[in-house]
Formats: sequence, structure tokens, C-alpha cells
Amino acid sequence: MKKLAVFASGTGTNFVAIAKACASGVIKAEVAVMVCDKPGAAVIDRAREMGIETFVFSPKDYTGKSAYEAEIVKLLDAKEIDLVCLAGYMRIVGETLLNAYEGKIINIHPSLLPSFKGAHAVEDAVAYGVKVYGITIHWVNADLDGGKIIAQRAFPYEGSDPAEVHRLGQVIEHQLYIETINKILNQ
Ligand code: GAR
Repeated sequence: MKKLAVFASGTGTNFVAIAKACASGVIKAEVAVMVCDKPGAAVIDRAREMGIETFVFSPKDYTGKSAYEAEIVKLLDAKEIDLVCLAGYMRIVGETLLNAYEGKIINIHPSLLPSFKGAHAVEDAVAYGVKVYGITIHWVNADLDGGKIIAQRAFPYEGSDPAEVHRLGQVIEHQLYIETINKILNQ
């Protein structure tokens, strides 16, 4: 059985979609750990309800990014993680984690990359007047939201409400993430 680690910082709807797909056999893998950098984030309760191990940390308790990433690498190594799925993990991956796991880390981003990189992709796209939105899943490298694209899906929206774009996009995200994880694991 392949092992996934899911990293999240917020609500965790993508984490729940992935974990449910694993539990029901739609993804032939197990979520071995959920890593969260925000004590108090809703995703932590969701993981605990589903009986999934969590590693929750506060970056301010460490001397820097390489210190907490070294601890994460130890954990991923111990669990023999095959694939790391960033799912709303709102932190830039540093060289400690990349040196150990580059080529095994993917991220989901709420825009059609390379347009609208960064933490406010949907808001930036709405402000720009975009009419076709989308979701991208890409490999993670040292270039923020700049790794090679694995999958994309577009959807039309002519309005100007970011919340509606988020809502429409998340339905696509959950499906696309499950399909893409399956493709990678079956390669
Ligand atoms: C997702 O929409 C994801 O695309 C976005 O965070 C959200 C997390 O939602 N990620 C980024 O913006 C990364 N730059 P979730 O916690 O409900 O899965």
C-alpha cells in the first residue's frame, strides 16, 4: 500500500476528499499523516475525526524553516511516504524538505498557472476580470508555484464574486486531486 502525507493549513476540504477516497479504495493508498503548520486549524479536527495521525507545529517554536522541515523529513522518512500532497499548505517549501523529497511533492493551486501565482490567486484573477478560471496541480520545486504542471481544469465564470469562484473551484479541486494522485501512483 502506497503512503501519502497531506499538508494543510486551513479548512481541509481537499484533505477530507483525499482521505475519503483512500478510505473507500478510490485511491489505492493510505493517508499516513496530515501535517499542519497552524495549531487550531479546522483540518486538525477533521483528521482526528477520521483517525488519521497528525503532526501539528508552530513555525515560531523553531529557529527557522530548516529546523521544522528537518523534523518533517524525519517523520516522512519514518513513515516511508511515497507522495506528499500539499492541500492548502500556505507556506513556501524550503530547501531542507526539497532536498529530501523533490520529485515526490505536488501542490494544488486555484488558478491556471502560470497566471496568478501566490496566496491570493482567486482574488487577483477576479480583480483582473478573468472570464475562464481554473485549477492546477504541479510538482513543487524551489520556484514558487512554478514547478512542472501535471494537470489543469478550467471553468467559465463571468461574475465578480471571489467566494463564488472559490466554491466552483473547490468542487473541481477535489475531483482533480483524486484523479491526479491515482495517475501518479499508477505510473
Ligand atoms: C484550496 O482552494 C487550494 O487551491 C488553495 O487553498 C485552498 C485550501 O482549501 N491553495 C492555495 O491557494 C495555494 N497557493 P482546503 O483547506 O479546503 O482544502
